[in-house]
Amino acid sequence: MTGARGGILVTGARGQLGRELVAALAAHGSVVALDRTSLDLADADAIVRVVRDIAPAWIVNAGAYTAVDRAETERDRAFAVNAHAPGVLAGEAKRLGAILIHYSTDYVFDGSASVPYAEDAQPNPLNVYGVTKLEGERAIAAVGACALTFRTSWVYGLAGGNFLVTIRRLAAERDELRVVADQAGVPNWTRALARATAAVVGRGRPYVAERAGLYNLSAQGQATWWDFACAIVGNVPQPRVIPITTAEYPTPARRPAYGVLATGRLREVFGLALPQWRDALHECLTSPAEPMPADRVG
Ligand SMILES: NC(=O)c1ccc[n+]([C@@H]2O[C@H](COP(=O)([O-])OP(=O)(O)OC[C@H]3O[C@@H](n4cnc5c(N)ncnc54)[C@H](OP(=O)(O)O)[C@@H]3O)[C@@H](O)[C@H]2O)c1
Repeated sequence: MTGARGGILVTGARGQLGRELVAALAAHGSVVALDRTSLDLADADAIVRVVRDIAPAWIVNAGAYTAVDRAETERDRAFAVNAHAPGVLAGEAKRLGAILIHYSTDYVFDGSASVPYAEDAQPNPLNVYGVTKLEGERAIAAVGACALTFRTSWVYGLAGGNFLVTIRRLAAERDELRVVADQAGVPNWTRALARATAAVVGRGRPYVAERAGLYNLSAQGQATWWDFACAIVGNVPQPRVIPITTAEYPTPARRPAYGVLATGRLREVFGLALPQWRDALHECLTSPAEPMPADRVG
């Protein structure tokens, strides 16, 4: 028996992924899109109250504490949102018979690998954010709810705080950009992630319930931040994009030198593959920005 009434609850709905999810998921049911003011994920009691009130068939958790450097000094808040809240959401999903979809990160790894990380590779986060995200994955697994956890990396879109937006702004201001060229990963466009999520939801709950678990959700190929910046800036002669080392760009949080995620499991189990990252970037740069559906976010 399920207590779920139906519909899709999206948390963190004003985030860069959240807003794309709200748009993409509308094809698959009525979406209740909640931002931090309507559902503070740091407040476990509020999660229980709101989820029980809405009783959705799907909970899509796009909310997260994503300030990687700030997390080094705001551990408690990062833990509440990234580690504790996913477990509470999973508990409520289980109670309702709903399916939870959650997102995690390549930053659960230390980057010492040189081939793409499979889902069962040994995590070893280098920073507090990575620790909190790994704890969130584990909290969901411990509850035993019907859940999909999608690990992804280097998320960008035309809106929000992300590398693409920063590089475009700096490119308009400067003649020269210095960008780290010794960290490899995969850029992932929010819309491609949202489309893949919607495709999964579109398969229906029984189909997804049989395939619950942890999946890498990432575009094909790999890049350094320097490659990514060059591709964003394009062929224009200015600004010059200068490759630098991580040591030349110190940050409070350490980042893995390598974070490419192997995507075979998603292809085998769901028959889904995201495009090459360069193709997704091209589509992003030539697409209209997703308008914020302000009336759909509470
Ligand atoms: N960004 C990346 O490069 C990246 C890489 C790998 C994985 N991921 C994962 O992908 C998912 C989506 O991330 P994103 O890039 O879309 O991040 P984002 O743009 O920072 O969005 C996260 C959203 O969560 C909200 N949030 C933060 N604290 C909250 C709280 N206490 N209660 C409710 N909402 C809260 C934020 O609201 P405010 O704006 O009000 O803070 C924001 O709208 C996350 O799970 C993230 O860990 C991201």
